[in-house]
Amino acid sequence: MTKDKGRDCMSTKDEVLKYLQNHQQYVSGEELSEQLLVSRTAIWKNINTLRSSGYEIESVTNRGYRLVFSPNTISPEIILSGLKTKAMGKNVFCFDSIDSTNAQAKRQALAGASNGSLFIAEQQTGGKGRLGRVWASPSGTGLWFSVLLRPDSLPVQVTNITLLAGLAVCLSIRKLTKAPAMIKWPNDIVIGGKKVCGILTEMAAEIDRIEYVVVGIGINVNTENFPEELSVKATSLRVECGKPVARVELLQEILSEFERILSDYTDRPEAIFAEYKTLCVSLNRTVGFVRNKEPLTATAVDISPAGELVVRCGNGSLISINSGEVTVQGIYGQT
Ligand code: BTN
Repeated sequence: MTKDKGRDCMSTKDEVLKYLQNHQQYVSGEELSEQLLVSRTAIWKNINTLRSSGYEIESVTNRGYRLVFSPNTISPEIILSGLKTKAMGKNVFCFDSIDSTNAQAKRQALAGASNGSLFIAEQQTGGKGRLGRVWASPSGTGLWFSVLLRPDSLPVQVTNITLLAGLAVCLSIRKLTKAPAMIKWPNDIVIGGKKVCGILTEMAAEIDRIEYVVVGIGINVNTENFPEELSVKATSLRVECGKPVARVELLQEILSEFERILSDYTDRPEAIFAEYKTLCVSLNRTVGFVRNKEPLTATAVDISPAGELVVRCGNGSLISINSGEVTVQGIYGQT
C-alpha cells in the first residue's frame, strides 16, 4: 500500500530516520514499507538520501537496514546535501569558533554576501542575545546560525520577519521532534514554559531602502543539563525529547520552512499570521511589561498586522507593544 501522492519526500525521509532511530536492530525494507505506507523503492531512495546527508546505514541481505551513525558534524557538504531551498542557505559559511554569527553575517553583508547566505558556528565566543544580553553558545550541542536577507521592500515591511522566523523554528521543531513547541511573543520558542530557542534580528536600512537584515537563531539542541540558575528558564530539545536530535536535519527543515513562510507571507499575510497566533503562547495570558517607566500587567489579546502584541488593560483600554521585555504568566517561572 502507498500513501497519498501529495506527501513530500522530506517527510518520508524523516519517518524512515525516526523508525531506524527507534529500532536499534535491523529493520527489513518490507517492514519499513508496510509501516510507513510507502513503496520499497521510496524506502531505498530515502535511505540513500539519508546516507548522502552523512547518516551511516548498514544494509545486510535478509536482515535489512540498521542505523549505525548519525552525523553530529556541521559542514557545508552535509548542510547542502538534502537542502531543498531555492536560495536560503545555498551560500554557506561554517566556523568552528567565531565571535557571533550575527556579527559575521553583518561583516559579510558589507562585503557583498548574497541574499540567503548562511553563517553557522559550532561555538560562539561572543554570542549576542536580545536587549543587549549575552547568549551562551557552547561547542557541539546547539545550532547557532544567522541568515542574511536582502529583502526588496521598505523597512516597515520587514519588522515581521522576526516573527516569521519564530514561526519557522516552531513548526520545524514540532515536525521533527513532535515536541509541543510554542512561540512566546515575539519569537522565543518555548517548550513546557522553558526557552529552547532565541532569535535576534538586526537590520541596516536607509529611510526608503533596506541594506540587509540578519536573522540570528540560537537553539539549545543537545544540551544535557543547564546551570541551576538557568534550569528554571531554559531547556533543550534533547531534555524534552529524551534523546539526541540531529542538528543538520533541523537546520535544513528550518531553512526550508523559513523560505516557504517568507514567500507565502507576501501573498497571504493573514493566513501566516493566523498560523502564528495558534502557536503563540502569550495570547490569552496575563503579561507584564513596562510603559513610561511604570510596570503594568494586562491580558494579551491579539497580534496586530504590524506584529505588535495587543494587550487589554484592567480599564478595558487596548495597548500595542512593539518592543522590550514582556513577561508571561506561567512562562520562565513567572507567577
Ligand atoms: C535572545 O536573546 O533570545 C536571542 C538570542 C539569539 C542568539 C543567536 S545564536 C546565533 C546568532 N548569533 C548571535 O550572536 N546571536 C544569535
